[in-house]
Amino acid sequence: MDLMLKDKVAMVTGASQGIGLAAALTLRAEGACVAAVSRRCSPELAAALDDSLVHVPADLATERGPAGAVEATVERFGRLDVLVNNAGGPPPGVTMPRFSFEHLDDGDWTAMLDFNVMSVVRAVRAALPHLLEQGGSIVNVSSTHAHVPSGVNVDYGVAKAGVNNLTQALSEEFGPRGVRVNTVSPGPVRTPWWTKEGGAADVLAQALGSDRATVLERSAAELMNLTTGRLIDPQEIADVIVLLASPRSASTTGSDVVVDAGLRKAV
Ligand SMILES: NC(=O)c1ccc[n+]([C@@H]2O[C@H](COP(=O)([O-])OP(=O)(O)OC[C@H]3O[C@@H](n4cnc5c(N)ncnc54)[C@H](OP(=O)(O)O)[C@@H]3O)[C@@H](O)[C@H]2O)c1
Repeated sequence: MDLMLKDKVAMVTGASQGIGLAAALTLRAEGACVAAVSRRCSPELAAALDDSLVHVPADLATERGPAGAVEATVERFGRLDVLVNNAGGPPPGVTMPRFSFEHLDDGDWTAMLDFNVMSVVRAVRAALPHLLEQGGSIVNVSSTHAHVPSGVNVDYGVAKAGVNNLTQALSEEFGPRGVRVNTVSPGPVRTPWWTKEGGAADVLAQALGSDRATVLERSAAELMNLTTGRLIDPQEIADVIVLLASPRSASTTGSDVVVDAGLRKAV
């Protein structure tokens, strides 16, 4: 299927690794020019850079970061058709899960909301004039935590529920003017968030008296009762992001596509 993304310009946040990197590479493979935004350029991203895939350094947790990234993208490629707000999760310096509401103070809440909600608000604000010009599309990466409230990651779930609400509101306001806005809500995805030293698998391993490999291969899927029996591959999220970004999804807006390995047992 031709996704009709040839020569479109996309900005993907949090694109140095994990879901964002997979989405950036897939958009580029579909013919788009891509600005990959993150604070640092990873070896994997560096190895893939060329004229149609550039790294844009920005700290999205700051007030000016998202707008600066949009400006750099438009300066480099001359337009913007697709915005993928993927950066999110634990704010810089935080390890999740933190297991309880009682462990969180005002600073924790503010940092979580700044990184997961305000970075999206600011990126959308800066990108909208360009997206309106092109009839573009926005894909926000949310989480099953937006739908399944839990004390395990309570601040994160609240932030992602805000992203879903924002998505629907933006779709209602800007859909009639040609800009589509959707979310993808992943379940647990095997990215560095889980796999890195001190990452989620290590936190769970410590809580369970286990080890990282066992958590990644077995216990995490068992704990979360994943129907597929395994964590999700980042590419499996990236493919949905890119389909939603594509003009082939022209009648999909205000939607939330859940890709959660069967985690949420509800209709
Ligand atoms: N992995 C999961 O299990 C899972 C499940 C549900 C939803 N999600 C969502 O999926 C999205 C991506 O998750 P992931 O697991 O792929 O993340 P990840 O592996 O932790 O990667 C995070 C990316 O964001 C960038 N980043 C972090 N802080 C940043 C900042 N202040 N400014 C700019 N970029 C920043 C990182 O690069 P730098 O550090 O160089 O900046 C990196 O490229 C997030 O929104 C997350 O909430 C993930």
